Amino acid sequence: MKMSRFVVLAVVLMMIPTLTFAAADAAKGKDVYTASCKKCHGEGGNPPPAMTKAMGVKALNDKDVQAKSDAVLKKEVKEGFGKMKPVALSDADLDNVIAYVRTLK
Ligand code: HEC
Repeated sequence: MKMSRFVVLAVVLMMIPTLTFAAADAAKGKDVYTASCKKCHGEGGNPPPAMTKAMGVKALNDKDVQAKSDAVLKKEVKEGFGKMKPVALSDADLDNVIAYVRTLK
């Protein structure tokens, strides 16, 4: 029965990278942010004054923004929010970018 225990162990070990990969990754989220959000939301979530004035963009570290749940923030990005149009991202990129937004508070 030693062999079957080895097989179980091997399967568990093979799953570890998958599990790690599935968790939201704020470092990857920062790259997504730079590519897809920064032009409007600015460096570190601080929008350029012109964007605040023209579009009413709040800083992403604003307590009102951070008070929203991950599910709500994801929905706002995916479906759009007020003057912000929906941003098309993969589910993984969406998870990661929200993880990054959480590092801003
Ligand atoms: C084309 C410009 C633009 C891009 C690109 C953009 N946003 Fe926005 N975003 C806005 C504007 C404008 C608002 C404010 C909308 C309003 O209040 O009517 C906003 C609002 C938000 C809010 C809600 C803030 C609040 O007041 O509750 C979140 C969260 C957000 N954006 C996240 C993101 C993320 C994450 C990305 C990248 C995946 C992104 N946005 C890309 C323009 C943009």
